[in-house]
Amino acid sequence: MSNALVGIVMGSDSDWPLLRSAATTLKQFDVPYEAKVLSAHRTPDQALDYASSAAGRGLKVLIGAAGGAAHLAGVLAAKSELPVLAVPMPSKHLQGLDSLLAMVQMPAGIPVATFAIGEAGATNAALFAIAMLALNDPTLAKKLSDFRRVQTEKVLAKTLTDLP
Ligand code: RP5
Repeated sequence: MSNALVGIVMGSDSDWPLLRSAATTLKQFDVPYEAKVLSAHRTPDQALDYASSAAGRGLKVLIGAAGGAAHLAGVLAAKSELPVLAVPMPSKHLQGLDSLLAMVQMPAGIPVATFAIGEAGATNAALFAIAMLALNDPTLAKKLSDFRRVQTEKVLAKTLTDLP
């Protein structure tokens, strides 16, 4: 059995270059994860099986990323009571606005938490998963505090060299 705590699911391997930052972030914090390509419309049975077995396999949070009609995160949430974090992927014709609206406009009853379109959303979904897991993990909470402190220090250390 995998020891993954976070399940990253994407609708297509074409999502992976942007979604990879979720995996990189989880790895940076030593949070075990698994990543899979499963589509709500191309592999519906497998997507449903994945979601319904996720909690029983020890997963605590799911990240669902998809582009276009982007129903994957909602489908995962329909079959799992784990928190589902939705990451809209950029789409060819509408640049991911369609994905964002599909995810953020879930009707009442089955929530998904929707993040920014693309790579920033992928990174923040991972950071949000880490923050949730850190509620019951002091070591992880310390890593998150350290990360935030270092980030603050980096911003404050920036200098602008091209002032007119
Ligand atoms: C969605 O359709 C995927 O999540 C992806 O963002 C989009 C396009 O998929 P491909 O045609 O590139 O496989 O299901």
